[in-house]
Amino acid sequence: MEEYLDKSIKEIINQFPDVGNILSEYNIGCAPCSVGSCLLKDIVEIHNLPYEEEQESMARIAKVIYPDREVKIPEIKRKREARPEEINYSPPMKKLVDEHVLIKRWAAMIPEFIDNLDVESEPGRQVIIDGIDFIRTYADKYHHAKEEEILFKYFGEDLDIIKTMLEDHDNARAHVRAMLEALDKKDKEAISEHLNAYRELLIEHIKKEDEILYPWMDRGFSITQIGELFSEFNQRDEEFGNVPEKYREFINKLEETFKLTEVLK
Ligand SMILES: [Fe+2]
Ligand SMILES: [Fe+2]
Repeated sequence: MEEYLDKSIKEIINQFPDVGNILSEYNIGCAPCSVGSCLLKDIVEIHNLPYEEEQESMARIAKVIYPDREVKIPEIKRKREARPEEINYSPPMKKLVDEHVLIKRWAAMIPEFIDNLDVESEPGRQVIIDGIDFIRTYADKYHHAKEEEILFKYFGEDLDIIKTMLEDHDNARAHVRAMLEALDKKDKEAISEHLNAYRELLIEHIKKEDEILYPWMDRGFSITQIGELFSEFNQRDEEFGNVPEKYREFINKLEETFKLTEVLK
């Protein structure tokens, strides 16, 4: 079994597809992950499985790999103790989680936003431009840039888990480009399609960051690094001035508008 701990999870899943099913039962989405070259031994630490679940999942995986013999389940050495209780973010990570809340509020409105798309009239087009502007300015230039230019630098972009996040950011940007092109062509269908795809992508992405990536990063930070990160984030916020406030108001207003259309329907 030891030899498999140092193998990439994608390789193992290709050879033994049931391993992917077992991991997904523990909410570990290695099978659908686009990168998947994390090693089996890293999976446990990154996903911070409680000790009993680690042993149980490893025993089940061992049964799939070696169906005919009893295998000793190796204990995986972790840099930090498993902490299965609720997530306590450090102050800088809490900041990012709070930014996610605003992005999730926007994502939640996208289906209604799509129902009300008007690509013909000037005011209708402006609403679409404003929605796309929230994605480009708040979600991307403000939030994703903080991750890419500050946070991820602490870990290096060669890590698979970071590569996956960067790939998500790039895919989100591609959807935005496609939305703008579609708006030029007054192609309502294509705008809806890319808004929906963006919504699905971002909801999944934020879940991965909130539940897996950020807690894993937090477990690895020293107190000094947390202080450093917090002041780097604050400095970035200062450079952005009233941007967070402006987009918070935008989301509040949009929620009000949709509440109103709900009442009028
Ligand atoms: Fe991200
Ligand atoms: Fe994020």
